[in-house]
Amino acid sequence: FLPDVLALAIGYLLGSIPFGLLLTRGAGTTDLRAIGSGNIGATNVLRTGRKDLAAATLLLDALKGTAAVLIGAQLSPEGAVIAGFAAFVGHVAPVWLKFKGGKGVATFLGCLFGLYWPAGLAFCGVWLAVAAATRYSSLSALVASAAAPLVLFTVGRGGEAFVVAAMAALLWRKHAENIARLRAGTESRIGQKA
Ligand code: G3P
Repeated sequence: FLPDVLALAIGYLLGSIPFGLLLTRGAGTTDLRAIGSGNIGATNVLRTGRKDLAAATLLLDALKGTAAVLIGAQLSPEGAVIAGFAAFVGHVAPVWLKFKGGKGVATFLGCLFGLYWPAGLAFCGVWLAVAAATRYSSLSALVASAAAPLVLFTVGRGGEAFVVAAMAALLWRKHAENIARLRAGTESRIGQKA
């Protein structure tokens, strides 16, 4: 029981580090939450015009998910999924930002890589295909996140598929405004400035 609680706590704390906010603040660029979608993720960092910071945000927000999963795996048999789920929740609802965090895409991807790397690759493939066709970051993430549990389920990793499906459901919930904009045809496309 104690190792599971530890996995939960470590996962949440890692996940709750808002790298997008820290990096843009450190660089003294526009306040992320005042531009574009107001989100703290890599897509919105890109809207500041700093591609380097956007790439770093994507990488670090993903790596914290991977790190959580790998640390959790050392703690208990179910530690990987517990820590991964906790990291995802930490990103989406960090106590430091009054629980108003990001939309979870990069951290979702990082967790996938930690749990079963082929599923991470599949996510990237789907994301890139949808992005190439539509140039919508949000739509790409919505489709790729829905595909992830199916991939896990197909290869017989049912337990992980269940947890990842729960993460995908949260991710979709956090994209409610994006979904409304997609339906209205007003969602901004990748490369479009804020
Ligand atoms: O990574 C989040 C992405 O799916 C949407 O971001 O800033 O366009 O709401 P944003």
